[in-house]
Amino acid sequence: MKKAVVVGASSGMGRALAGILAREGWAVGLAARRTRELETIAAELPHGAAVQGMDISDTGSVTEALQSLIRALGGMDLIVIAAGVDHFNPDPRAPLDPAAAQRVVDVNVSGFRAVADEAYTFFAQQGFGHICGISSIAGLRGSAAHPAYSASKAFVSNYLESLRLKAVKSGLDIAVTDIRPGNVETPMSAGQPGRFWIASTQRAAEQIYAAIIRKKRTAYVTRRWAVIAALLRALPFSLLKKL
Ligand SMILES: NC(=O)c1ccc[n+]([C@@H]2O[C@H](COP(=O)([O-])OP(=O)(O)OC[C@H]3O[C@@H](n4cnc5c(N)ncnc54)[C@H](OP(=O)(O)O)[C@@H]3O)[C@@H](O)[C@H]2O)c1
Repeated sequence: MKKAVVVGASSGMGRALAGILAREGWAVGLAARRTRELETIAAELPHGAAVQGMDISDTGSVTEALQSLIRALGGMDLIVIAAGVDHFNPDPRAPLDPAAAQRVVDVNVSGFRAVADEAYTFFAQQGFGHICGISSIAGLRGSAAHPAYSASKAFVSNYLESLRLKAVKSGLDIAVTDIRPGNVETPMSAGQPGRFWIASTQRAAEQIYAAIIRKKRTAYVTRRWAVIAALLRALPFSLLKKL
């Protein structure tokens, strides 16, 4: 039985993906802050799941928490880092909110880095493994509505590519997958205005699972967001400011 850890499994895409992994025969380890939620989810999975409370913004605690989960699971072949937070304000004239921006950086940048590093070190010692992180279409360009979030997702994509390069150059069999969702209906995105092509959580999780199985380097979720990604990359600032 292959073993997968999902960090950020208490809600949204991480939760749905944990369900798919379990139904596809993986042994699953669930991590997030809300352990009661995780226990409920574990009880609903076909073979149960190992559960670990983890606050990735407390980077000093990540090593122990992840190692404890890996021990409970009896190993780790795959880690999915789905944990993330957003701070969204559609009013471009609103003042910046430094405390909220810092919370985003603490989770999406520092926390992500801590988990990814710990997983990479574990897989490097083991000789193989697969790291899957969830960045976003939002990481491709700047955003007036959520500057810290947008920049944090650029960090995630770049960091994943860096780890992939490090693994390849070291001759290590560590796959790295960067999932770039567009709009997905989850608690994080609920109520955000101006969204389109909104995928259900389940559909998004199914496409993430397919990308993991194929060991894709980058996957847009849903797939048609690859078109938006190409347009966004090519867009000059003079047009970006009109969006
Ligand atoms: N929804 C979208 O449209 C969309 C689009 C692009 C990218 N994404 C990205 O997709 C990922 C999943 O988001 P989602 O939409 O499924 O949101 P969600 O339902 O809000 O789930 C976020 C998950 O992150 C966990 N989390 C938050 N802070 C954490 C912390 N400090 N330590 C550990 N876990 C933490 C939450 O668990 P606890 O609260 O229990 O800790 C929860 O399980 C995120 O990285 C998000 O940025 C989402």
